[in-house]
Parts: sequence; structure tokens; C-alpha cells
Amino acid sequence: MQPTAIDALLQETRVFPPSDEFVKQANISDPAVYDEAARDYEAFWAKHAEQCLHWFEKWHTVLEWNPPYAKWFIGGKLNACYNCVDRHAQTWRRTKAALIWEGEPGDERVLTYGDLHREVQKFANVLKSLGVQKGDRVCIYMPLIPEAAIAMLACARIGAPHSVVFGGFSADALADRIRDAQAKVLITADGGWRRGSIVPLKRNADDALRQTDSVQKVIVYQRIGGDYTVNMQDGRDLWWHELMHNAPLTCPAEPMDSEDLLYLLYTSGSTGKPKGIMHTTGGYMTGVTLTAKWVFDLKDEDVFWCTADVGWVTGHSYLVYGPLSNGATCIMYEGAPDYPDRDRFWAIVEKYRATILYTAPTAIRAFMKWGEQYPRKHDLSSLRLLGSVGEPINPEAWMWYHEHIGGGRCPIVDTWWQTETGAIMITPLPGIVATKPGSATKPFPGVFAAILNDKGEPVGANQGGYLVITRPWPSMTRGLWGDPERFIQTYWSKYDGLYFTGDGARQDDDGYFWLLGRVDDVINVSGHRLSTMEVESALVDHHAVAEAAVIGVHHDIKGQGVAAFVIVKEGYPADESLKDALKQHVAQKIGAIARPDQIFFTADLPKTRSGKIMRRLLRDIAEGRALGDTTTLADPAVVQALKEKYEGHEE
Ligand code: WTA
Repeated sequence: MQPTAIDALLQETRVFPPSDEFVKQANISDPAVYDEAARDYEAFWAKHAEQCLHWFEKWHTVLEWNPPYAKWFIGGKLNACYNCVDRHAQTWRRTKAALIWEGEPGDERVLTYGDLHREVQKFANVLKSLGVQKGDRVCIYMPLIPEAAIAMLACARIGAPHSVVFGGFSADALADRIRDAQAKVLITADGGWRRGSIVPLKRNADDALRQTDSVQKVIVYQRIGGDYTVNMQDGRDLWWHELMHNAPLTCPAEPMDSEDLLYLLYTSGSTGKPKGIMHTTGGYMTGVTLTAKWVFDLKDEDVFWCTADVGWVTGHSYLVYGPLSNGATCIMYEGAPDYPDRDRFWAIVEKYRATILYTAPTAIRAFMKWGEQYPRKHDLSSLRLLGSVGEPINPEAWMWYHEHIGGGRCPIVDTWWQTETGAIMITPLPGIVATKPGSATKPFPGVFAAILNDKGEPVGANQGGYLVITRPWPSMTRGLWGDPERFIQTYWSKYDGLYFTGDGARQDDDGYFWLLGRVDDVINVSGHRLSTMEVESALVDHHAVAEAAVIGVHHDIKGQGVAAFVIVKEGYPADESLKDALKQHVAQKIGAIARPDQIFFTADLPKTRSGKIMRRLLRDIAEGRALGDTTTLADPAVVQALKEKYEGHEE
């Protein structure tokens, strides 16, 4: 983040205490909960694990902590699907809506807990009939339709860890993830809808499967149908509806060990290779269930809308596992916020009387830009709580959200967390904590955070530093699939025994946390994590590119945009059409989210004497700042020339 933005944050003095009305009805309103958790965090988590989940067998040991490895609720047996479905389907909630789904073209479906119970059992039987056993990895590459959640829950039911790959990712990205996880089965759809066009999921899957060999069966859900046909390979590809037709109705939920793997979810790190974040059953379910209940103040009457796709951790934790574990009603919407018009979200809120909305700052900034006339067309009075996630929210966006969506009456929970943390870590509890626009406020009870300098010393109030988590928490990742060394290297080597988040932060005089963005080579584009090296690899994969350096630059809507400095091979014209071709190439290699916003041709890149590209200097250039320390450069003239050329360009 730019220094000016940090200063603006520090000058932010507006405070919004929860209203009496909200406090009176809140699930949690006694501030003593923070002290209670601080006094004995193991006892705190154990108490809530017991209260908010169903266990087939109770654990014998709450926590075993051998940094960086934690085991929680050892000896406990439970099933995530049972907790999200069966225990509600056995009560009056059998007829309560679990998922209210709307497709982008306007089709609608409502699935009750009873419906979910039936569908997940049938689909679990389908998986079993295809030879899927406990421990086998199943890859899910789906549009945002109820079957994506059904597939996840069915995997959880039989103990087969799922690996969901966002439907916006390319065939190559899918292939990398299938290969790394050695997935046995792939669940996909013929296609999905996005801004009125068909996303060719099955075609991408076919391309991916040509590059990998672990997948034995592919289950294809017919989302598009009609004239849209896809290739079905004999003996490998099977239609969802045909398999489900005769599937037996009952399939018991497998009692899983608390530490059994629930899922893998790939995310970008600071190298080109995505990492498979592992989450286990007991700790993860405890974390997501309690945070969903307290942070979103979930009640039976709520209609909760988390706008994330199941391809991201937010979709895993707060569209599927967290809210369903609480027996909540969730909205799921397949498509884009501006299709067919820019009021689509507000039409959905009005239509289903959504009470809680959880979305990303990038969406809020886009809504701001489009103008308040769109939300004003709709009755948003059902909303009572708003949430934000994925990137720092700037105070202007926070205020706009507060006024124009929340009607000035809804608390805003700005929730900081990561794929690795599994559940929300720093957040207001809306019935307790007064909020400040732009601050994620305080660690959730039972979570302990600190801000340190390079030497590992705590920094003072209003000083920037590295955000770390100082004690283990139940939903923390148990490691990276197949890469224990990278796990230690990435998160546990900077500070001994402390979890390094990769984020910068400050605490103000009241102890509130203000997140300042990533401090590593991860960039955050519209709340989605990308690695600079991933984009660089995609660029150099193009035949005209000799070398590339990628950085994140400030972007008004996306938070960060992708800027690429490219050295073109001899004989290729460095012109506009090559720029377009390169943008297209990256989108095709990774997915549309990685498409560079700016491409800048250069003859040279600033490097250290050992040949490392100095991205820091490129960021200085791209954001128009004075150049930082250039003493380690092999050739200082390179960067000066680049700066002059960049300032003269027209993009
Ligand atoms: C960023 C998404 C500021 C942060 C749940 C983190 C945030 C990365 C916030 C994780 C927030 C997420 N304020 N920054 N409220 N929420 N981030 O793994 O940089 O996709 O490290 O998880 O997003 O992204 P991930």
C-alpha cells in the first residue's frame, strides 16, 4: 500500500459502536469472552468444539503443539457432512431452506436440509460405486451451483478429501492441481454461465486430462444442456444425472478422526507453483462453525449471502461448511454482479430478503463507481449485518457500504483471514466491538496476533510491521500437500514458533489492527491471490518473450492490478498487438483473473549482482515514487532509463 494511503488510515478517527438494538439480540455480547479465551485458550476452544458440533466420540486430548505442527481434539471422531446436514435434517430444519440458489440466467432452486440430506447420500453412493475410498482425492471443477456443495459434502461424508478448483481457472491451472493432488475422480459440468456466455468447463477439463493421468472417472453435471454438447469419453466420462438416477438413498456418514484430512485447497504463494493447503476435520469445523455463528451473528431466521465462489476458501468456510454447520439458510448466486444489469446483487437481496451480506472490497468499489442509483432501486431494508473479506477495505468504500447498502444501521464486520487460517482471525464481534472504517479491529477470542519487526521484536503503536499469529488455533492449516519443507520455509522460518502471515499491519492506540497488504511476492487482485512468479512463468511461456517481471500496482477497483515488464526476443515487434496477445496468453494459461492490466516493454530489468530482479524498484517506478535504495543494483543506469521511459508511456 502507498504511504499516503497508510497516513489516511491512521487519520481515520470515526468510530461506530454497535447499536443497543443489535447488542440486545446478538449471539455474543459479553466482552468477557475475550478474557475468558485469553486465560485458557485450549479450554475455550474445547468448550465451543463440544457445544457447536456433533461428535461420534469425544477427544481425549485438546491440543498437541509441536511447532509448526498442531493436532486438535485428538481421538475425537466426527463427520463434517453429518454436522452440516444430518443433524439438521433430523430436526424441524428438515423442511428449512439450506440453499437458495439463483443461476445467472434467472433460474431458481431451493434445497431444504432434507433435500441436501438425500442428495449428498445419493451422491456419496455414486462416488463409492466409482471406487472412491476414504483418503482418495476428488477434484471438483464446477460452476457455482448447488451440486458443487453437494459434491463437497458427499466427499466429506465418505472421507475423500476434495480439492475444489475455481471454475474461472484455465485447463493448465486445473491440470497442475489435479497432478499435484493425484486426484482419482474429477467432478465437473458441461459449462457454467458468466455474463451471458458459457464457460466451457468440460472442454477445459478434457484439455487438463490430456496432461495428467491420475483421473479414472469424470462425472459431468449438465448445467447448460440444450444444444450445447460436450465430448464424453467412453469408459471415463459419466453423466451426473444418470449416475444419480439409480443411486441408493442412504449412505451413513463415516466417523472421521479429528485430524483426518477434510480437504485440500490450492492457493498462490511466492513461487510459481500453487500450494495445496491442507485442512483437517475437527479443528477446521470448530473454527468455521463458531466464527460463522459469532461474527455473522447467525440465527435461524437469517438469510445469509456470502457472494464468494466455492473455488476460494471464503466459499468453503462461509458458503458451505460454516453456515450449514449452523443450520443457516444461504443464498448462492452463480453469476456476475453486473448481469444483466448493475443492480443484480440488490435485486437478489430484495427478492430473497437477505439479512446478512458478505462480499469483497473490490465488489464494493465497483458498486461505488457504478453509482448509488442501482442499490436505490431496491428495498434493502432486510439487511442487518454486512461483511467484507479478501483485501484491505479503504475507508471510503467502508463508508459507502455502510450508508448505501447498510442504510446506516448495519454493523460492518471487516474480516481478516487466509486460506491457511481456515477461519476468520481478525474481526469485530458485531455485538461487542465498535468498528472503525478500514480496520479489521481485533483478533477473534482464542486467536493471538502480534506485529513484529525484522528482528522479531514487537513494534510500538502506529508502527508498521509483520503480522504474526503467536499461538496455535484449531482451524490452522496442517501443512502443504506433499511439501513439508515449503510449509516450514514459508510460514515458520522467519520467526521461531510463530506463524508468519505474509501481511503487513499496524495497531493503533486502541490496539485495533489495520491491515496493510502483502509483504511478499503475492499480489491480491480483486481479493484473489496470485503469485508474481506464476504470471511471469505464463509470460515467458509465450514464444516472443525472453524475460518478464511482474508486480502488483495500485488499482482503483481491483485493489491491485497486474503490471508486467517484458523483454521481447530479438526479431519480434514490441507493439500493441503483442501486448494484447500476451494478455490473452496469460488469461489462457492461468485464468482471466491473472490477465495483466499493463504490459510495458523494456530492453533490460533492474537486477542485483546475483541476478535477482528487484521488484521493489519496479513498484517504485510503476507507482511514481522516488526510487528506493539502488546500491545493490548491478547496473543503476537500467532502472533510471526504465523510470524515464515508463513516465513517458501512455497506458
Ligand atoms: C488478504 C481470503 C485485509 C491478506 C480469506 C491475506 C485481507 C490474503 C483481508 C488471504 C482483510 C484477506 N483485510 N487484507 N479483511 N482478508 N486479506 O488466502 O493479504 O485468498 O493474506 O484468503 O488476503 O487471501 P486468501
